[in-house]
Amino acid sequence: MAHTNSEILQLFEATLSQMQTPEEPELLYTPIIYSMSGGGKRLRPVLLLITAEAFGGDVEGAMPAALAVEIFHNFTLLHDDIMDNAAVRRGKPSVFAKWGGNVAILSGDAMLITAYKHLSRISSEALPRVMTIFSDMALEVCEGQQYDMDFESLDRVSVEEYLLMIERKTSALLRGAAMIGATMAGASEDDLRKIYRFTTELGLAFQLQDDVLDSYGDEALGKKIGGDILEGKQTFLMVQAMNRATDEEREVLRNTHRDASLSDAEKIARVKALYDKLEVRHIAEQQIELRFDRALSILDTLSIDESRTVNLREFARNLMGRKK
Ligand code: IPE
Ligand code: IPE
Ligand code: MG
Ligand code: MG
Ligand code: MG
Repeated sequence: MAHTNSEILQLFEATLSQMQTPEEPELLYTPIIYSMSGGGKRLRPVLLLITAEAFGGDVEGAMPAALAVEIFHNFTLLHDDIMDNAAVRRGKPSVFAKWGGNVAILSGDAMLITAYKHLSRISSEALPRVMTIFSDMALEVCEGQQYDMDFESLDRVSVEEYLLMIERKTSALLRGAAMIGATMAGASEDDLRKIYRFTTELGLAFQLQDDVLDSYGDEALGKKIGGDILEGKQTFLMVQAMNRATDEEREVLRNTHRDASLSDAEKIARVKALYDKLEVRHIAEQQIELRFDRALSILDTLSIDESRTVNLREFARNLMGRKK
């Protein structure tokens, strides 16, 4: 009998809570515990496990891989908060803000290594293929993160370039998780291709929504609202606003975050006033809906019985309603 998504989440949390972390050096391991128990939604391990189960695989066998993707994800957040100069994560000080950049780098490195240690515990039969998926995925995330930083110093980024960047920094990890689950369960090549496309679209929708929430969300998001604006990020909102703005407005959009005469709140208000005027939130929301619809319709084409795709559908719908 298949599990529900919330049962899968509980199983994952139970496994995670049994994970042993050494006590010393304290400044290496305490930040790891802080990060791993800090209220993450556990999207990627849950996706991995429900995908495995959808294709007839077993949850227990896939659990070490689920741990690996969640630890890897939290590692990316430790380093991401350094790169994005972000002081708040999940409603609390980021590791970077609490312990500084050096600690966030090294604890992050240790998490990456720990992720591989867990991955290596899966069945030796599945290991070579899964290792390749995992490492390709991890490199894609690095590529996406570098494009994200490169784009900060560019005035204009095309929608295509932006989508390519978020496909790597965000879709890649959701995709890697689902591909690992499906591979371990012995899904057919055709279904694997469909899962690849499903999670690509889902990841795009998720990051587009993350961009919208960064400017229009509330405290529930657990990050500083307006953080992307203050860092001069090329988000979907910024890319679209630049496309629709006059030359004068473009100056404001790209330079406000550097204006030392303005407070943070004034910078955020100035850029958001232009976002509102140019109606870019609406464009983003249409794009999010389009991507979610595409993701869901790909599920219709899988070779497995429709009843086996219920958890994947519910997972996607929950992502759509995301507030944090
Ligand atoms: C944050 O991911 C990074 C992005 C890809 C936007 P999540 O929103 O899944 O982070 P947690 O683990 O639930 O906090
Ligand atoms: C998410 O990018 C991608 C990774 C963390 C790899 P963001 O920088 O938008 O994520 P948040 O908003 O800080 O969670
Ligand atoms: Mg970032
Ligand atoms: Mg960030
Ligand atoms: Mg973000």
